[in-house]
Amino acid sequence: MANNLLAGKKGIIFGALDEKSIAWKVALRAREEGAEFTLTNAPVAMRLGQIKDLAAACNAQVIAADATQEADLENLFRQSMEILGGGIDFVLHAVGMSPNVRKKRPYTDLNYQFYNQTIDVSAMSLHKLLQTAYKLDALNEWGSVVALSYIAAQRTFPDYNDMADAKAMLESIARTFGYYYGTTKKVRINTISQSPTITTAGTGVKGFDRFFDYADKMSPLGNATAQACADYCVTLFSDLTRYVTMQNLFHDGGFSSMGMNPAVMEKPEP
Ligand SMILES: NC(=O)c1ccc[n+]([C@@H]2O[C@H](COP(=O)([O-])OP(=O)(O)OC[C@H]3O[C@@H](n4cnc5c(N)ncnc54)[C@H](O)[C@@H]3O)[C@@H](O)[C@H]2O)c1
Repeated sequence: MANNLLAGKKGIIFGALDEKSIAWKVALRAREEGAEFTLTNAPVAMRLGQIKDLAAACNAQVIAADATQEADLENLFRQSMEILGGGIDFVLHAVGMSPNVRKKRPYTDLNYQFYNQTIDVSAMSLHKLLQTAYKLDALNEWGSVVALSYIAAQRTFPDYNDMADAKAMLESIARTFGYYYGTTKKVRINTISQSPTITTAGTGVKGFDRFFDYADKMSPLGNATAQACADYCVTLFSDLTRYVTMQNLFHDGGFSSMGMNPAVMEKPEP
């Protein structure tokens, strides 16, 4: 159901790798609501992924950018403003990667070079993106930036490994930059703390399948899907949420408020 919530808005969407990606669903949903945007991903991901198909479906141009490289980000913002014909109204940061998770290093035996990469790609990239936009004055007044987080930022989920630390930092950057960008330009910055979702990044976490089922049972509404996350992102990009900023917003079917759910205690029949 489209309501033209994003008519006339111009954006940049990071992180669409394939059709399972949360960013992929956000792009299709934002287009449905009338937005125009550019799509971006790391050059290597663009070779592996199917972003060109998405670009065709959204009538969007693709600009390669490694989210850890300031020069790439500057080029991305400059080119996007040129292509879209003006300032940017919304940005989705859907970027995450941990070499420690990929290489199955346990939290008690991290490789610190990998750890730095985890933080750089999954957290500091949000700061780099915001600082680049700030210096270029690329975001319009009442613009909206959304980054995707996970509850391991607040509570311990051992298998989430060093990504938990990256998400804690990501949420902090959203709050602190939210102060500066809010004060100077009325730009709002929030994180959405999403349910476990079946994507390339999600399923890379050890024990994902069993945990997905556990979270689904624990949440009164069940796990929020990527499609539902796209709906939520659209509301945050729209003018209907102009005073929501510096928040970590749980989009998790109620998981974060649960202590115990009898549904997860049930034993199978003997
Ligand atoms: N899937 C889940 O269970 C879940 C839950 C909560 C939050 N999230 C977060 O949602 C976001 C999107 O992930 P997803 O689940 O859609 O998986 P995904 O694997 O489809 O997306 C992750 C994206 O990050 C991109 N990326 C990695 N390194 C990059 C770099 N250096 N520069 C630019 N882009 C880079 C990848 O190419 C990919 O497109 C991530 O921040 C993830 O942590 C996912």
